[in-house]
Amino acid sequence: MKLDTAGTGAGLPAEGDLKKAAAAWEKLMGGGGMTGWLELPRRMKDSEADISAAAAEIMDSSRALVVIGIGGSYLGARAAAEALDAQGAELIYVGKDMSPRTYRDAARQLEDKDFSVAVISKSGTTVESAIALRVFRQLLDKKYGPSAGKRIYAVTDPEKGALRRMARENGWKSFPIPPDVGGRYSVLSAVGLLPMAAAGIDIHSVLDGARDAMEEYSDGNPENPVWQYAAVRNALYSAGKKTELFSAYEPSLGYFLEWLKQLFGESEGKEGKGIFPASAVFTTDLHSMGQYIQQGERNLMQTVIYAEDVLCDMEIPYDEEDADGLNYLTGKKLSWVRRKAFEGTLQAHVAGGVPVNVIEVPELCGEELGRLFCFFQLACGLSGHMLGVDPFNQPGVEEYKSRMFSLLGRPGYV
Ligand code: PA5
Repeated sequence: MKLDTAGTGAGLPAEGDLKKAAAAWEKLMGGGGMTGWLELPRRMKDSEADISAAAAEIMDSSRALVVIGIGGSYLGARAAAEALDAQGAELIYVGKDMSPRTYRDAARQLEDKDFSVAVISKSGTTVESAIALRVFRQLLDKKYGPSAGKRIYAVTDPEKGALRRMARENGWKSFPIPPDVGGRYSVLSAVGLLPMAAAGIDIHSVLDGARDAMEEYSDGNPENPVWQYAAVRNALYSAGKKTELFSAYEPSLGYFLEWLKQLFGESEGKEGKGIFPASAVFTTDLHSMGQYIQQGERNLMQTVIYAEDVLCDMEIPYDEEDADGLNYLTGKKLSWVRRKAFEGTLQAHVAGGVPVNVIEVPELCGEELGRLFCFFQLACGLSGHMLGVDPFNQPGVEEYKSRMFSLLGRPGYV
């Protein structure tokens, strides 16, 4: 992947911004606290074989894997599975909302399929995941009787929480989430890797890309793209660009953008500060959001992830009548047309006063995805420190939970 900040008009980050980045980098790389994710790509080498073995078992016994999880316990796996067009077990996501329709649809999808369940929750007490586990455990029991437990895989804290207790008591296969890795930084632990592997993704290449990235971006200097990106977005924020629109031209990256929104939103949005992360998938959203982006309030910056999808392509066909006047495109690849749409839109947005960072990905593959995960995690940790907030906590999330529990009548909350 390659970062180009030229479209931000910022040139190279100013001296002051780089100084700020240097101080924040020291803080980030100092480790400790919730920075275990810095080590994950290396640490996971030891667990790769166990995760791959569990995934092989799932693919062997099941056509579908019900993935139970929400937020950081779900978005990374879905981002990867959709981006890489996974062809292994079908992943069915539940416990990510409270919609009865999600449950109905999932049960319908599973009617005539063998399935297993991966329940992923660091705390082991998240209400959405707990409800889903209760429901899908009963479905498993009904279908497989006493052997149902062999089809449950738990990913949770190594010691604490209700899910760990349940896994222990019922003899479920389980994988730990390191205590020093927070939910939104956990994609390269079993949280993301188990569903990815069950979906048929080569997790070895994802981790390889991640390890490369961690090495390449570990240098504390202004040439480091992580620094440049963090410094530019920080400078733009100070100049009034309060919203960052993450965008892609490949719909299969839609969930990667969702993952980014959680990563940056939960990491930076606190103490009355933070860039608001939004997303748009082009060219689709140019036909709904394009007007605002071009001419609405000038508080936007944009970060485009432009990835070449090498899986397939097509040519625009010749048409004898040419009633639509499209013959000038005959024989052109659709990917070429899309690139021109990207280049034209980039020019238009920059001209319209939207600073644009571009991250080009030469090939949408496991390795590149591993790199992207690491690049953005590092950039997010660094940006949070530059902003002067703790990028690894989320104190605000508890507020709605305790009010909801009180209304639900949960013991201890009424
Ligand atoms: O990033 C986070 O910490 C959150 O998004 C969590 O991942 C999410 O709330 C799910 O929590 P848990 O894994 O404890 O079920």
